[in-house]
Amino acid sequence: MRILISGICGFVGSTLAKSLLASGRGHQLYGFDNFIRPGSESNRAELKALGVKLFHADLRAASDLETLPAVDFVIDAAANPSVLAGVDGKTSSRQLVEHNLGGTINLLEYCKTHKAGFILLSTSRVYSIAPLANLKVVAVNDAFAPATDAALPHGVSAAGLDESFATTAPISLYGSTKLASEALALEYGETFGFPVFVNRCGVLAGAGQFGRADQGIFAYWINAWRQKRPLKYLGFGGHGHQVRDCLHPRDLIPLLEKQMAAPKIAATDRIANVSGGAASAMSLKQLSEWCAQRFGPHQVVSDGTMRPFDIAWIVLDSTKASRLWPWQPTLKTTAILEEIAQHADQHPGWLDLSAPL
Ligand SMILES: NC(=O)c1ccc[n+]([C@@H]2O[C@H](COP(=O)([O-])OP(=O)(O)OC[C@H]3O[C@@H](n4cnc5c(N)ncnc54)[C@H](O)[C@@H]3O)[C@@H](O)[C@H]2O)c1
Repeated sequence: MRILISGICGFVGSTLAKSLLASGRGHQLYGFDNFIRPGSESNRAELKALGVKLFHADLRAASDLETLPAVDFVIDAAANPSVLAGVDGKTSSRQLVEHNLGGTINLLEYCKTHKAGFILLSTSRVYSIAPLANLKVVAVNDAFAPATDAALPHGVSAAGLDESFATTAPISLYGSTKLASEALALEYGETFGFPVFVNRCGVLAGAGQFGRADQGIFAYWINAWRQKRPLKYLGFGGHGHQVRDCLHPRDLIPLLEKQMAAPKIAATDRIANVSGGAASAMSLKQLSEWCAQRFGPHQVVSDGTMRPFDIAWIVLDSTKASRLWPWQPTLKTTAILEEIAQHADQHPGWLDLSAPL
């Protein structure tokens, strides 16, 4: 199959490209990137050496996509993935929308022209903040979990949020560009007759992720701990009990292969959560305990200051994806953390490489 990956030199794009090539199914890989993410340039030579046909192109410029070769499927892994993007006073809200939504439209026009299928890597940040922020949680073993003595909102269970959880605003500017992209992708697919899949991913983590405090938290925390850089438990009383689940993007491959091979499914089955789920969930405090075992002790400062979009507990329930495809993550959180740690050992300057200019 001919596959085009946007943002191919990013963490997810490059991991997917290498894994698709390693699957031995004879895929032809094409990809483009505008290298806006600090560090993405470092993936270029390896991808080229593996035989990926690379293009320098910016999703925002429709004309950049005009000369790309025709493919069978597009995997969209180009975005500004931070929940604080466009609202932190440092980055432009207009530019976020141009990248994440305008860019999607340009890709959908490409898919329409070439009758290519489209896979969007969406996010848990499409889910409403208010019911998540109001969710009653208790700390168990240094990690928040939904309180069992309170009624849970619709779409929440101990297994996580399912696809029926509310998606009404506010959901973050990042999340809203993704939610709007989901709607447009489904509409284009129905109207112009090409397959579309929307995979709502929780936190993705693994070696080579460009870590910052607001994005790529597992990679950031491990690299910063190893280098004894200042770390803070922000918000929620400063205990580090906030919880996320995590998935290695390599674990997406069996699912993507099945989706690309079986494009004819019901419209209602085109959106599914894809995550490590409750079994992979971990709090920052628990991550620190893992880091202390791996690298030795380090002081984390408690700071109760809340940031916009801070949520105590986000775990995605991917039962629907498991039932539909069937699909299960295979890599355990500790294996993902160890992979990141080994990468950090081999790349001591990683946080500087991936720091904003
Ligand atoms: N990392 C996660 O935890 C996570 C979770 C859910 C969804 N996702 C989604 O997965 C995708 C990839 O995330 P990532 O973690 O690899 O991010 P990343 O920043 O490592 O990679 C994104 C890549 O896209 C490129 N890019 C950005 N804007 C572009 C543009 N206008 N034109 C061309 N290239 C552009 C960047 O240079 C970078 O190489 C994003 O769509 C993100 O929203 C990521």
